[in-house]
Amino acid sequence: MTDSDDFHRYQPAEGHGLPHDPFNAIVGPRPIGWISSRAADGTLNLAPYSFFNAFNYVPPIVGFASTSRKDTLANAEATGEFAWNLVTRPLAEAMNASSAIVPPEVDEFTLAGVTPAASLRIAAPRVAQSPVSFECRVTQIVQLSAADGRLVPTWLVLGEVVQVHIARRLLQDGIYQTAAAEPVLRAGGPADYFALGERFRMRRPG
Ligand SMILES: Cc1cc2nc3c(=O)[nH]c(=O)nc-3n(C[C@H](O)[C@H](O)[C@H](O)COP(=O)(O)O)c2cc1C
Repeated sequence: MTDSDDFHRYQPAEGHGLPHDPFNAIVGPRPIGWISSRAADGTLNLAPYSFFNAFNYVPPIVGFASTSRKDTLANAEATGEFAWNLVTRPLAEAMNASSAIVPPEVDEFTLAGVTPAASLRIAAPRVAQSPVSFECRVTQIVQLSAADGRLVPTWLVLGEVVQVHIARRLLQDGIYQTAAAEPVLRAGGPADYFALGERFRMRRPG
């Protein structure tokens, strides 16, 4: 086995030794969970989470990770609900505005200049301007732990999608057009995002 200088190697626990942590730039670009929720007192909340993904088909389950105790996590715990909204290129700036750190009583829909639309099955509203939304019921909230068993102050919130909204313009002969939606994807660093590039197709073996 040869160990060449062609690789930068590090153990994260001891630091990456680079000007910026490359982790988020490597695991990217990532879809964004633009999560709307409602506090027990009715205050509306909206914030982006790029530690977000889909985890199951049937039933559909999505999840996002809150890297400290944030309002969205508190609302998901208190109400057992949240909505996911697709961030499209025209909504990128609004999504960014909704990430401002503000007190729980501040409604980030207003801050971001977007409109809450009533959901069908949950009390948390969706973003009216977003062409795709999922209404979700919380299934599990898991506090993460490190390999040594130490609890990490990060919570993975998983929810079953119980209602889907898709703008008809994104359905062509009934097939959802991923690129037509112009999803915004998050990469690393303080400000890197991507739009979709080339599509290629590859079928599974067998
Ligand atoms: C593109 C983007 C992605 C983000 N992803 C996460 C994430 O995955 N987890 C997290 O805890 N915070 C993330 N943040 C920061 C939260 O959006 C921010 O802390 C926000 O104020 C939380 O709002 P809340 O307290 O209303 O839930 C992200 C911010 C941006 C702009």
